Amino acid sequence: MSAFNSQANSQLILALSKGRIFEDTLPLLEAAGIIVTENPETSRKLILATNDPDVRVIIVRASDVPTYVQHGAADFGVAGKDVLLEHGGEGLYQPIDLNIAACRMSVAVKAGFDYETAVRQGARLRVATKFVNTAREHFAAKGVHVDLIKLYGSMELAPLVGLSDAIVDVVSTGNTLRANHLVEVEEIMDISSRLIVNQAALKLKRERLQPIIEAFERASRKTQ
Ligand code: ATP
Ligand code: PRP
Repeated sequence: MSAFNSQANSQLILALSKGRIFEDTLPLLEAAGIIVTENPETSRKLILATNDPDVRVIIVRASDVPTYVQHGAADFGVAGKDVLLEHGGEGLYQPIDLNIAACRMSVAVKAGFDYETAVRQGARLRVATKFVNTAREHFAAKGVHVDLIKLYGSMELAPLVGLSDAIVDVVSTGNTLRANHLVEVEEIMDISSRLIVNQAALKLKRERLQPIIEAFERASRKTQ
């Protein structure tokens, strides 16, 4: 192997999104001996250094993490199951559930809307969501006819202003639903975030990646 290749094979790029995933991944990185030396909340930089000159963190939108890893622009990343189901998982190896950013994917409606009756009567429901693939599969499995309305955020607003009858969104404490007079009528699945690895990188950079994957696995088991 040439000197160039062996150097390239020692460099690792990790894709993370700002906020809860970044915060919850820091202790896992620390368990692998990696300390991120810049703070994405105060810096405008999108490529962050770590204490290891061979490891850098790139900051991308949560829903873009699988795309960067799939195409090898990042070697590995952390993404929610919700995001991975929408992406499809192509080109990604998903070795571990990190048990971070835990929440659930649910159907919610405006308080007073009789969801059960609407479903029983075979009404066609308008459903607003960012998670169109998951929502499509869920309602198809139940045999419920839906018109899906793709949104990019603030789903809770849609039933309040008559854009939709229901939403499919992630719920954790339920505070956002309560604050907007919505009620959860169906839980679709539990959600947490997973480590994802580019399939080619796993082969070419196995020596560097494997100890990190193992440290993440041990550390995430401890927090369960
Ligand atoms: P984007 O910036 O691409 O719109 P986002 O705003 O959903 O994405 P985050 O809010 O950082 O990004 O969420 C990242 C992941 O954390 C989600 O994909 C989901 O798996 C999980 N998550 C979302 N909301 C919560 C919550 N309230 N509590 C716990 N985990 C959550
Ligand atoms: C997520 C989600 C819900 C909220 C649910 O929003 O889209 O609105 O969390 O959490 P809760 O049940 O604890 O209220 P987030 O906080 O990520 O805001 P954002 O989508 O605007 O980033």
